[in-house]
Amino acid sequence: LEMKKKFGNLVLCGFMGSGKTTVGRLLAEQTGRRFLDMDQWIEEKEGCSVAQIFTKRGESGFRALEREAACELSRKTGLVIAAGGGALLDPENARALRSGGTVILLDASLNAVRSRLEGDRTRPLLRDGGGELERLYGARLPVYRERADVAVPADGSPEETARLVLKALE
Ligand code: S3P
Repeated sequence: LEMKKKFGNLVLCGFMGSGKTTVGRLLAEQTGRRFLDMDQWIEEKEGCSVAQIFTKRGESGFRALEREAACELSRKTGLVIAAGGGALLDPENARALRSGGTVILLDASLNAVRSRLEGDRTRPLLRDGGGELERLYGARLPVYRERADVAVPADGSPEETARLVLKALE
């Protein structure tokens, strides 16, 4: 357990807009770890944006790349990883990410993510607007809660959330 604490990855998961990337960068700075964003890693590897991948290959094409990313990143050590909002939904991904570190759920309320995502045009799953955000949120939260090692409230500032993450890991 001590080894895992020292070298295991800190894997942030949670809904779109829960703060995985922002809080992840902060945590990396504060703990002297390297920060890796799963979506960004996929974008660099593919040379195009997540939205373009969805358009060209559909969601299933993106999920295949995400599985690769989860596998490869879980073999690295000492990282702070911001997972994609859908990464934990595949049980194999969840298992891989947990084997390489501690999976932390940034548990932001529906209201908080709704206001943070207002006007966002980069996320293909929210393109159609309407009730998609509410529906996805309701379906996913129970899965995140079941699969994460710990959950931390994430409605506050990134600094506050980072503090709560470190406290939860003590
Ligand atoms: C997704 C979340 C996005 C990105 C893709 C799919 C999801 O990541 O991976 O658009 O299924 O929730 P963020 O959570 O970083 O927005």
